Amino acid sequence: MAYDFTTAANSLDEFWMPFTPQRYFKKAPRMIVRAKGMYYYDPEGKEILDAAAGMWCVNAGHDQPKIKEAITAQLELMDYAPCFQFGYPTVFKAASRLIADMPEPFTNVFFSNSGSEAVDTALKIALAYHRIRGEGTRRVLIGRERGYHGVGFGGISVGGLPYNRATFGQLLPNLDHLRHTHDLMRNAFARGMPDHGAEYADELDRLIYLHDPMNIAAVIVEPVAGSTGVLPPPKGYLQRLREICTKHGILLIFDEVVTGFGRFGTMSSVDYFGVTPDLITMAKGITNGTVPLGATFVTKTIYDAFMNGPEHVIELMHGYTYSGHPLAAAAIIGTMDTIQDQKIWDNAKAMAKPFEDAVHSLKGEPHVVDVRNCGMLAGIQLAESKDPNDLNKYPREVSYELFRRGLMVRYTGPNLYLSPPLIINQAQIDQIVTTIKDVLKTL
Ligand SMILES: Cc1ncc(COP(=O)(O)O)c(C=O)c1O
Repeated sequence: MAYDFTTAANSLDEFWMPFTPQRYFKKAPRMIVRAKGMYYYDPEGKEILDAAAGMWCVNAGHDQPKIKEAITAQLELMDYAPCFQFGYPTVFKAASRLIADMPEPFTNVFFSNSGSEAVDTALKIALAYHRIRGEGTRRVLIGRERGYHGVGFGGISVGGLPYNRATFGQLLPNLDHLRHTHDLMRNAFARGMPDHGAEYADELDRLIYLHDPMNIAAVIVEPVAGSTGVLPPPKGYLQRLREICTKHGILLIFDEVVTGFGRFGTMSSVDYFGVTPDLITMAKGITNGTVPLGATFVTKTIYDAFMNGPEHVIELMHGYTYSGHPLAAAAIIGTMDTIQDQKIWDNAKAMAKPFEDAVHSLKGEPHVVDVRNCGMLAGIQLAESKDPNDLNKYPREVSYELFRRGLMVRYTGPNLYLSPPLIINQAQIDQIVTTIKDVLKTL
């Protein structure tokens, strides 16, 4: 019997949905059953323009034949193989392909299954790296307010979204956070990197003084904070963070789960901002969202530091059953071929300016208090509602109404955000912005 996954669900009760108000959703479910190119389709076959790339991940657009072909070929050959003490060719090929396109100092990649695991892996490598070099006092991890680094205990500890942390107690010891970089007073409606706020990086000096440099292992930031509503870094901010970390022997980690793999038309934000960290995390777009995968990239200096002990001893006591899963490795190769063949990152570069112009035309529309953008990412901040029990109701209501009008846009807090597949064209950009304008007028 052939499977038919388009039929309606018998019950919505049993699935505890992630990051979703269960009862609100289940009262008025937003169901999708099919996807192709720039579009999802609801059960009635209605087209829904995907302005979110699913969840910042379907960067090459939906239903790409080469990716399906690669995954299927690997599945026909071998469903699963352990990467603990065994290997198979596809995973090594995938790693080599990725490293070939990474900025020069990055020579090795550790695979996991998600952005959260990629982050936890990066934090653990940072701690282990210092210890292996005899600087085991370096245990403090520094994140940033409004940062999102997934939902593992490591990620929520260094993360800076209060609601994601509040429920779960004291989290990791040895933590601190930099101030976030959003400065509505000085930078509202800035295009790309805002002019003001490089000095927020100097706060790192203050934390270093407080904790002592020899106690600090790493600083982790998203080059552009995504989930909090798209906050591009102020001009000069990332450079300053890099200088301070270098001066004190602190590792700098860029969490590029959103910004990596094409959002700026480049492999990583190193090629975009010109600032090189010591570790980079990626996930999402790296398999075009088809098979879960996280990747933690390290420089040669870091990798080599681990390669000094006896050869028969495991250098890093870390890994997941599905680290380097065959289907995920095949998906990386299929995704990279697709991006190259269709020159998708060239399109991302070409569309960045029209996208910027379009989203900034939202300035002056009802309830819009800020618009921010960088590459093919944009955040639209809406005013608080007058309902003290539901201050952020506008973005939610807008997102639901947009869906009814055939547009997928996600929201968190007061922000709507846009991260469309990178195959987008001008007409689709116009459709996104026009539909948002129409809905804002109805609030
Ligand atoms: C910057 C960043 N890091 C980590 C994560 C976590 O990724 P995942 O949901 O795959 O665990 C996300 C997810 O959106 C993210 O945006």
